[in-house]
Amino acid sequence: KGDKSGVSSINRGLVMARELTMNRIFSGVQPTGNLHLGNYLGAIRNWVQLQADYECIFCVVDLHAITAWQEPEELTANTREVAAAMIASGIDPKDNIICNQSQVSNHAELAWIFNCVARLGWLNRMTQFKEKAGKDRERASAGLFVYPNLMAADILAYRAGHVPVGEDQKQHLELANDIGEKFNHDWEVPGFFPEIEPLILGEATRVMSLRDGTKKMSKSDPSDMSRINLTDDADQIAQKIRKAKTDPEPLPETAAGFEGRPEARNLVTIYAALTDSTTAQVLGEVGGSGFGDFKKKLADAAVAHLSPITSEMNRLLADPAEIDRTLFKGGEKARAMSAPVLASVREILGFVQPG
Ligand code: AMP
Ligand code: TRP
Repeated sequence: KGDKSGVSSINRGLVMARELTMNRIFSGVQPTGNLHLGNYLGAIRNWVQLQADYECIFCVVDLHAITAWQEPEELTANTREVAAAMIASGIDPKDNIICNQSQVSNHAELAWIFNCVARLGWLNRMTQFKEKAGKDRERASAGLFVYPNLMAADILAYRAGHVPVGEDQKQHLELANDIGEKFNHDWEVPGFFPEIEPLILGEATRVMSLRDGTKKMSKSDPSDMSRINLTDDADQIAQKIRKAKTDPEPLPETAAGFEGRPEARNLVTIYAALTDSTTAQVLGEVGGSGFGDFKKKLADAAVAHLSPITSEMNRLLADPAEIDRTLFKGGEKARAMSAPVLASVREILGFVQPG
């Protein structure tokens, strides 16, 4: 396979650099509209807490979004909306990086290389592709199929070791680890890409639809009543919770009583997450009572928690130029942080570069 002496010195340097990047976090949200309570409780809220202890890159992944059709003006508006949601939720763009993916071309470049590392067989197993492509797989974009390779590139362009996400992203992170490992193995650079640890945190790692407790709350559900959007006002939140699907039984006394009652489980889990308590504590308080009273408490908790975020988002969105400046500055920092990793990758592969 040729002379590896150059590589091993890169490797030695990067194994040392690994110590420095161990505490790096990367995570992303697609700017596909309808940012909802699941995105908030499963992801963004946890990021707010992690920013104190880690060096963080939070990315609006517009290149991922275009794996399905996006109207250009909507893509622009949705990108600003995700950035505003991050800032309004309490992520500080000065101490962390908030950027949009397309401004950092290192992601796309590394993704191409990973297209040549990942095996078709691995990608064929991805459940999200199967769900999103639906029955007519022939018509899905090629980008949708290699989506997880771009996701691996997002993370590994910074050699980030920790990725806080909701439960639905676990399979993609396993694939990212397979890619990193195969790269390290094939080019004989052990430890070059770190192992990625998924951080799936909090009570609500999988928030379900308000209309069907067996389906996850999703941006693309055609029913707006299925989700609480971060842009909903207090009346909309209260109405959606009042109309949320339930069953005729009173709330159970313990979590074992959730068996066969996914809607009850979901609402109690959301309440626990919003009030920083556990499901067991909530059931201790409300077990045995009917849904009517509980839904009032839940609506109050949701409004109390989300209203300040929504109004701050609206305030930020009134000045789109300022959001764009934040994204531009974040992009500059992100390019600088990922540049040395990409330079090493090019050298490892044997690409001729300026000396
Ligand atoms: P996406 O909307 O697919 O870009 O997801 C952005 C982040 O929100 C990811 O970390 C997801 O895992 C998380 N997420 C999306 N939907 C949910 C949900 N229903 N419950 C919990 N987390 C979610
Ligand atoms: N695929 C993720 C989602 O839809 C978004 C994402 C893209 C991401 N790149 C990432 C999440 C890197 C974590 C790390 O939820």
